[in-house]
Amino acid sequence: MARLNINGSTHNVNAEPDTPLLWVLREQVGLTGTKYGCGVAQCGACSVHINGEVRRSCSMRLRDIKPADKIVTIEGLSATSSHPVQKAWAELDVPQCGYCQSGQIMAAAALLAKKPKPTDADIDKAMTNICRCGTYQRIRAAVHAAAGTVKVGSDAASGNDPYTVKA
Ligand code: FES
Ligand code: FES
Repeated sequence: MARLNINGSTHNVNAEPDTPLLWVLREQVGLTGTKYGCGVAQCGACSVHINGEVRRSCSMRLRDIKPADKIVTIEGLSATSSHPVQKAWAELDVPQCGYCQSGQIMAAAALLAKKPKPTDADIDKAMTNICRCGTYQRIRAAVHAAAGTVKVGSDAASGNDPYTVKA
């Protein structure tokens, strides 16, 4: 039994210690927004945040996660899909098939939390997720559209929500 903090709630999960976090999230907790692509930390489809850092959950093992670690999945990014990155993604019609996009959004949100006004070079360096549909141009535009509207760590008191969205 392991205790995980996911999207601000505690979950007790029964899985072998070497189970990838991705499968714990999808199969034990039912959070299927996080996708399986390559399974070897290359594509980014499985990206989540752990303590505000973007991480590839296919390559993290359950034993690597501490109870105090704060895991945020795409389902926890905002209650109403109102995170600035999600809004920019919708406004600019970024997704095509959509499969990679939850990972792309998580990567973009982590980037903007650290660097509110990223340059193209910053975006290219941080956004290493693969998109088979080739939406890279729109991803970059959407990151710029969302830029400056996210700041990190402002709800540290609750310890659950690492983001605050400016009105
Ligand atoms: S499924 Fe994790 S990086 Fe591809
Ligand atoms: S939108 Fe299809 S893989 Fe990225």
